[in-house]
Amino acid sequence: MNVMILTSSPNIDGLTAACANAAKIGVEETGTRVQMVSLNQKQIGNCQACGNGWGPCRNEHYCQVKDDFQELHAAMADIDAFVLITPVYWGEMSESAKAFTDRLRRCEAIKKQTTFFEEKPVISVAAAGGSGNGLTTCLTSMERLFTHLRAEKFDFIGVTQKNRRYKLNTIQEAVKEMVSVLIRKNKS
Ligand SMILES: Cc1cc2nc3c(=O)[nH]c(=O)nc-3n(C[C@H](O)[C@H](O)[C@H](O)COP(=O)(O)O)c2cc1C
Repeated sequence: MNVMILTSSPNIDGLTAACANAAKIGVEETGTRVQMVSLNQKQIGNCQACGNGWGPCRNEHYCQVKDDFQELHAAMADIDAFVLITPVYWGEMSESAKAFTDRLRRCEAIKKQTTFFEEKPVISVAAAGGSGNGLTTCLTSMERLFTHLRAEKFDFIGVTQKNRRYKLNTIQEAVKEMVSVLIRKNKS
């Protein structure tokens, strides 16, 4: 079993990183393999809305913009559960998360066959500043994304600088529970 934790912050020691560390501990407590992916460390450009709005993403389910997208997209086929953690920027996911997930959604969401996310559990985490303004709109956009990808939405967690102490605990527990449920399901 493999779990992928994706982060999308330029800060390597900020709130997003702290959330990712809590999620990683949650996975490791179950003895499961975990793959950490920092989207900001990858070269992933924006969707170019090819042709009249659709490129090969529509029927062939790949993106023709050649960069780090292809390798990461392909790797997702072998992942059993995901955690996506983004800082809240302007009430939305950060730019690196939007660039990657815009292209991912186009390649996956209109597949007739099973998507790489179909019925796989996902936890969405939005890490905001002190105000927490836009936290829920950010989580709403993550809910739309995972609905389109046909994932099983296990939890949505909003974290701010004010509630981080207990929310980091929540993330660790939520991830541990998500993976434990999956392990029990695979055994039965
Ligand atoms: C461009 C930008 C926009 C932001 N917009 C919001 C926002 O809408 N609401 C909010 O609560 N915090 C906002 N913040 C603050 C970040 O969400 C917050 O600092 C978060 O902890 C950043 O994650 P990091 O610690 O991983 O960098 C914004 C920060 C930046 C850089």
